Formats: sequence, structure tokens, C-alpha cells
Amino acid sequence: MTERNIATLYMKVDPVNPEQKAIEEAALILRRGGLVAFPTETVYGLGANALDGRAVASIFEAKGRPSDNPIIVHVAGREQVSALTESLPVTAEMLMEAFWPGPLTLVLPVGESVPQEVTAGLRTVAVRMPDHPVALALIRAAGVPVAAPSANMSGRPSPTSAEHVLEDLNGRIEAVLDGGSAEFGVESTVLDMTSKVPVVLRPGGITPEDLKDVLGEVDVDPAAAAGFNKEDKPRSPGMKYMHYAPLAPLRLVIGRPEAAASKIKELAGQEKARGRKVGILSLSKNDDFSHYGEVVTAGCREKPETVAAGLYSALRRFNDLGVDIIFAEGLEELGVGLAVMNRLKKAAGGHIIIV
Ligand code: TXA
Ligand code: MG
Repeated sequence: MTERNIATLYMKVDPVNPEQKAIEEAALILRRGGLVAFPTETVYGLGANALDGRAVASIFEAKGRPSDNPIIVHVAGREQVSALTESLPVTAEMLMEAFWPGPLTLVLPVGESVPQEVTAGLRTVAVRMPDHPVALALIRAAGVPVAAPSANMSGRPSPTSAEHVLEDLNGRIEAVLDGGSAEFGVESTVLDMTSKVPVVLRPGGITPEDLKDVLGEVDVDPAAAAGFNKEDKPRSPGMKYMHYAPLAPLRLVIGRPEAAASKIKELAGQEKARGRKVGILSLSKNDDFSHYGEVVTAGCREKPETVAAGLYSALRRFNDLGVDIIFAEGLEELGVGLAVMNRLKKAAGGHIIIV
């Protein structure tokens, strides 16, 4: 890890009506080439001026991010998109109309003004307009598009609060705007618009079903549905890395809820008997796992959006608890469930137990 030793400025802001003074200060930092973490409706982002290659390069340094992983450019309005792209298909305009501001990132042919630090040398650029007053005010005040990956150390769960950001990046970035917890909780849907039928590269808040309503046809990249798989050569470079991982190994148990719960109890019991501290990620209030380990409930499986909102802080909680191994329940890969399962499979690094 490279040494960065910066006094990180912490600024609390009203998430609905952010104070202009704090926004101006943060915008000035961005214009001068610094890094500012800010809330979005999905997770916290770590922003830099997207048109300043050096500033974007320092994002990679601060996060320890692999240099072949491109970064999403955030805009405050559709009028900022044309300067970033070479051409804009009419389907992209339809999607912006339907889902922006919101958790949908569009991969488009890149324009000349975008430095290659943003695209990691690809011929495409990923663009999104976040649905959060603080993010939008910051981008507007900066007067430039803002390149921003999630504001975590590479490989750690994405941050859903300013506290998570500071856990990972205090002393490594110039400032953080604290606008409370990120509402949705997992990252945006990444949709490749450069093929004939658009392809979901990363599932997120806007589901394939939502996209089909506008586009008629949409594909899902097999690597996105399957989660972590190095052999699959995912088209979204970031998908090949083992993301979102807590420090302890995680085993995802998939099957009918009752069968999965008994398998978790069996496996957790064995680990406990070996003297290991076990964590259990529960998606239901009723399963009585408490005899078998430290239980963290991420939400409830009948409402996948509650699991999305609670997932990353649950994974971080296991780090605080210092468990040796984690067993996690899964849920149906429908709607937002597809995004949640994608993150759980990645956290499991391929260790999936099917019952
Ligand atoms: O919700 C989000 O998207 C959050 C917030 C901060 O906006 N951002 C985020 O960024 O999750 P990051 O860097 O953690 O994930 C960006 C994903 C990576 O998987 C990356 O490979 C992919 O988007 N990506 C970026 N540019 C791309 C491109 N030109 N082609 C294909 N995939 C791209
Ligand atoms: Mg990320």
C-alpha cells in the first residue's frame, strides 16, 4: 500500500438540503485535483475531477485499486453526457429519461475529453447521474463531471456510511461529506449500451425486468449472474476481482430456506466444536441461529431491498466481531435479489454450498 498521509476533512451535511458552504469547500478540493468522498443513493463514492487524469490516478492510489479497473463518471444532468461520449444511441436517451437520476450506469463509446485513467484504456466510458441531493450539488458546484468508484479500500465491502469511508480511507483522502446512510445499499446496475442488445454487466438497483420495460430486450452477462468467476472473462473489468469480502472466509448456503438453515446449523456446529468463532448472516428474523454463532441479520429475504440496504454493514460487522468463518443464507435471484446474490457470491469467492 502506498503511503498517503493527508488530514481528512470531515463535513456533516444535511442530506436533503446540503449546506452550500460545505459543498463549495468540497467542490474547490475537487477542482484543485483532490479526492472527496460523498454519499449517493447506492453507496458512498470517492470523487475526483473526471477530466483531470492525475486526480483520477490518485483515486487508484488511495484505494489500492487495480489499474485495469475503469471508473464511473458521475454527472448532474443529461446535458453533461454528450461531452463525455462519442455518440449517444437513442436507447440510452430513453433509459436516462426513465431512470435518471438513479442507480443505472450506462457504458457508452468514449469521447476525446475523457482521460484514459478513467477508462483504464477501454474505448468506452461508464456514466451515471446519482439520485442524491449532496452528490448532485457537489457535481454542479465543481462544474466538472466527477469520476467516482465506491469509497472503500479495494477488496473491502462498499461503504454505506461516512463512518465506513473513514474506517478505510481516513488519512488517504482530502475530505468526506457525511450525508447519513446510503439508502439503497448496493452499487448501481452497469449496462453496456455498445452491443446490439444491451447487456447487464453488473446487477443493481434497476433490475433486468425494469430495463426490459423500456428496451424490450436485454441480456445479462453470465459472469454477472454467476458472481465471482475468473475464467468467465467478465466484460466489466471490476467483476473479476474478489470484491465485497469480509476478512473471514464466507460460505454461501443456497437452497430451500428450511433446508439451508439446517445445513448452516450443521456446518456452524462443526466449526464451533473445532473451537472456531462462527458468524451467521441471517436473512430472516425467525431462524434461531444464536446457539451456533454470532448472528447478524442483514434484512429479510421476502423484502430483498432490506437485504440490499443492510448487506455491507453486516459484512463489516463480522470484521468487528472477529469471527473466523461466516455462513450466509441466500435469497431468490429475482428483482433486486439478483444484485444481492451477485454480491454474496462474490463475498463467498465461489464457495457456495447448494442443498
Ligand atoms: O453505485 C455505484 O455505481 C457506485 C457509486 C459511487 O456511484 N460506484 C461504483 O463504482 O460502484 P465502482 O468503481 O466500485 O464500480 C464500477 C464498476 C466496476 O465493475 C467497473 O469495472 C465497471 O463499473 N466499469 C466502469 N467503467 C466501465 C466500462 N467502460 N466498461 C465496462 N465496465 C465499466
Ligand atoms: Mg467498488
